[in-house]
Amino acid sequence: MQNIAELLGCRHPVIQGAMGVICNPEMVAAVSEAGGYGVLGSAFQDDADELRRQIEQVQALTDRPFGANLTVLNPRCVEMAQVMTEMGIKAITTSAGNPGPLVDLLKPKGVKVLHVCPTVDKAIKAQAAGVDAVIAEGAESGGIQGHDAVATMVLVPAVCDAVSLPVVAAGGIGDSRGFRAALALGAQGVQVGTRFIASSECIAHESYKTMICRAAETDTFLIDRTDRIMVRVLPTALARRVREDASQGRAIRRQDIGKAWIHGDLEVYTLAAGQVAGLIHQIKSVREIIEEMVSPAGE
Ligand SMILES: Cc1cc2nc3c(=O)[nH]c(=O)nc-3n(C[C@H](O)[C@H](O)[C@H](O)COP(=O)(O)O)c2cc1C
Repeated sequence: MQNIAELLGCRHPVIQGAMGVICNPEMVAAVSEAGGYGVLGSAFQDDADELRRQIEQVQALTDRPFGANLTVLNPRCVEMAQVMTEMGIKAITTSAGNPGPLVDLLKPKGVKVLHVCPTVDKAIKAQAAGVDAVIAEGAESGGIQGHDAVATMVLVPAVCDAVSLPVVAAGGIGDSRGFRAALALGAQGVQVGTRFIASSECIAHESYKTMICRAAETDTFLIDRTDRIMVRVLPTALARRVREDASQGRAIRRQDIGKAWIHGDLEVYTLAAGQVAGLIHQIKSVREIIEEMVSPAGE
């Protein structure tokens, strides 16, 4: 079985999870410079030229490999895939849907595909579709969730037993203990989201980072954004109202995400984050986060 760090061309098997509009080029490049695998997001990207500019910005900041994410839910994901391959991205994470059509598009161009799976069933289907690796993402993770809510602790070994591909663990990993636990469960590496929001290089607004650093492990909850999509979020006043009355969520406009996540207007969009926020108390540099995570003693 291929080694995941070799497959991605990075030193440490630490993938920075895509995080919508807050995977800014500076953070992505910092992750790759620190030996991990930085990933640009495109879930909220409607503008192919903007994606192209972001890729160029990362390329100007690092010579190390980095990737990008395609969220199948984005109606423009095929267009985004074309931009990514034209710009030389060699490995792409796919999520929130069937990766099959994207695999058919990307594999002939030599691009590796790592698919995010919340259940064993979806991991088996992703393997059959031809992906190169599976990211087993447990329900404690930040962002979009399926309805099955399998925790990382159960999902990772179950997926490892079910597929013959490299498995990456995601959901709830924020330090060296989580990293070592993921390897013990059979994963070859980790994908980390929430911990990187509370990094000095992330473009997220200070209020977002502060809420993560102050959160207890019980603070995040799932809200129902549409019939099919649940999202794990921090307990802002808006999130609490949507939890009480899902119809309030209909007023949330996709295009307002940056106003909340980057500019701190917490009344227009909810803040996604995972339960691991309860283990994060301090903003650190991306390098500090990665070096502590992969150090045997967790120092
Ligand atoms: C704010 C936020 C936004 C996210 N957006 C995306 C996304 O656009 N595409 C995607 O595949 N995953 C997305 N995720 C999931 C992450 O890539 C990653 O798998 C997850 O955060 C790992 O769990 P953790 O938060 O416990 O580290 C998001 C997560 C967060 C916290």
